[in-house]
Amino acid sequence: MYLLGIDLGTSALKTVLADEKGTILDQVSETYPIYMDRPGYSEQKPEDWFEALLRTLEKLGQDHDLGQVEALSFSGQMHGLVALDKDDKVLRPAILWNDTRTGQEVSYLNNEIGKDILIEETANIAYAGFTLPKILWMQKHEPELWDRVAYVMLPKDYLAYKLSGVRATDYSDASGMLLLDVKNKKWSDKMLEIGKLEESMLGELFESYEAIGHITDEISEKTGLPTSCRVVIGAGDNAAAAIGTGTIGQGACNISLGTSGTIFISSENFIPIEDSSLHSFCHADGNYHVMGVLLQAASAYDWWVKDILAKDYGEVLPEEDNMDSDRPFFMPYLMGERSPHNDEKVRGAFIGLNRKTSAQAMSLAVMEGVSFALRDCLEIAQKQGIHVTDSNLTGGGAKNALWPQMLADTMNLNIHEGQEQAGPAIGAVVLAGKGAGIYKSLEEGIACFKGETEQVVEPRSDFVEYYDARYLQFKKLYPSLKQFYQEKEGE
Ligand code: XUL
Repeated sequence: MYLLGIDLGTSALKTVLADEKGTILDQVSETYPIYMDRPGYSEQKPEDWFEALLRTLEKLGQDHDLGQVEALSFSGQMHGLVALDKDDKVLRPAILWNDTRTGQEVSYLNNEIGKDILIEETANIAYAGFTLPKILWMQKHEPELWDRVAYVMLPKDYLAYKLSGVRATDYSDASGMLLLDVKNKKWSDKMLEIGKLEESMLGELFESYEAIGHITDEISEKTGLPTSCRVVIGAGDNAAAAIGTGTIGQGACNISLGTSGTIFISSENFIPIEDSSLHSFCHADGNYHVMGVLLQAASAYDWWVKDILAKDYGEVLPEEDNMDSDRPFFMPYLMGERSPHNDEKVRGAFIGLNRKTSAQAMSLAVMEGVSFALRDCLEIAQKQGIHVTDSNLTGGGAKNALWPQMLADTMNLNIHEGQEQAGPAIGAVVLAGKGAGIYKSLEEGIACFKGETEQVVEPRSDFVEYYDARYLQFKKLYPSLKQFYQEKEGE
């Protein structure tokens, strides 16, 4: 009996084939372009995602009998706007989660509609990446195209629709649209009115582990998946990664160092965040979570090592971290920042360079800057009374030899390593298994896939002291940068 987990990422789509006992049988990735044609723009073609998905199925089908797949599910990059006309034709490239063109719409929502109303209706304020500001942008800048929009979908929901013919979404992903009343798990009438949307334009809401339908005849013929294969709606990628790493229950935490960096804290109850500097969203386990999102994380390190130094990983780091008092600071805001600053104008910086500064010190500074930006988010959660002692770790950055220890030291957390196989695609497999009734609970599915090699990286007290002192300095830098960029870009 097989299960499929489909992870629709920003750089690639990965499909994992597993059996119900927790053995990963195979996995295939396919990439697609990202269009960043103008500053702040970030788009992908939904058709490319679908083609990539079909290619992964074709490749898997060469070595495995996909006729045995009982259920499949998704993990999806969040917030993207997929706009379809009444005949389900994609009207324009999807505007992605890291697109920051919507400064004016965000300011209209937060200042004219007002943060209080947004928080009351949705538990969150507007961020450039969220879906509603993109809808308002399209209405203003592409009115003729907008008039043809019949359906608005999130990225993974477009794939679920293509496979099953059912328009649906799940609470975790829908939380990032600024249209969902997160606490009460229903669309907010007021927000639909603000977005000039009818409920019929949005998918029906499901829990992430619920089946929305089955594979269509057409897809079955094309892929070899049986028409009995259940399509389980799945979750936003962070909630799916949390399922993959077993981050469920009160205070459980997952840090992801991917294109984006996230710190995800699970909660059994709804947690309002007073100023909404962290997101308060639904979890894929049926409960809730709070989350801080950095727009650049492992991607900032990639940019530094590959684009700037033109080196390979490993060539640019000392073997051990050090407590150099001369290390420069790095501000990781290469594309503006989401949490906690909500500032699309700010940009990155190295600060404190001198004639002795080495490439190694700058490489450590990049990792440190991302770690401190995550700590900014953790501190807000802690102020809210959320107690976190340990965190799981996923994403490409988890494979860096120094980063897990640096996270433990900068954030004073025990970091649980060795779950490379976990993450969003495995979360999707577990959700598929639960939706098919193979697992009675998510815990049962999680236990099947939990990595055996888990090890705990503990914070080292001398480094904790070093980083505590540097963090106090780091915290002073954003206000000066903010001032500079507001003057540069105009208020
Ligand atoms: C979450 C967010 C990112 C994307 C990355 O709010 O914007 O983590 O989901 O795919």
